[in-house]
Amino acid sequence: MWSIAEIATIDFNVESGDIIVTLSPQKERSMAKHKQNPTRIDIAPKLREKMIALLNAQLADTLDLYTQVKQAHWNVKGPYFIALHELFDELAEQLEGPVDDVAERVTALGGVAMGTARIAAKASRLAELPHDSYDGMQMVALLADRYAQLAKSTRAAIDASNDAGDADTADLFTGISRGLDKSLWFLEAHLQ
Ligand SMILES: [Fe+2]
Repeated sequence: MWSIAEIATIDFNVESGDIIVTLSPQKERSMAKHKQNPTRIDIAPKLREKMIALLNAQLADTLDLYTQVKQAHWNVKGPYFIALHELFDELAEQLEGPVDDVAERVTALGGVAMGTARIAAKASRLAELPHDSYDGMQMVALLADRYAQLAKSTRAAIDASNDAGDADTADLFTGISRGLDKSLWFLEAHLQ
């Protein structure tokens, strides 16, 4: 439902009985953000719209986590420096595939992949990495929290896309969640 503030003018054509609604420039812009590109893909536009929103939400979180793992890679301190420095780089690298695959599933479905740093920062549901300490084991625990959160939302995305009827998107999320679980294990093994 649009609020009156979002609508610029409402006209009524007496002859045809049509109501002509003109949207404000702001509303037009926000709707253009969700405009789909034409595609021959045999998935209904409504389902694609739903999947595009789901994929873009996961993209924001995954991109955010990628930058947080790199931040940890650069700044980690303590007696396990070199091992953690290298581990964090490997974990970050393993997120590059999922980021690209999720973004490209958006475009394959006719959507616009929303993946700049600004968009990701604004849309991400993950907490920012604290900047007060870069103690190695503290970094491991903080990253483990974030991997667990992303793995959980990715698993929810598997169910959401399956229930909606997009087995391909569900399959993509399934592969990604398996990788996240493995990364979580690599981190948690340091804490057990
Ligand atoms: Fe590096």
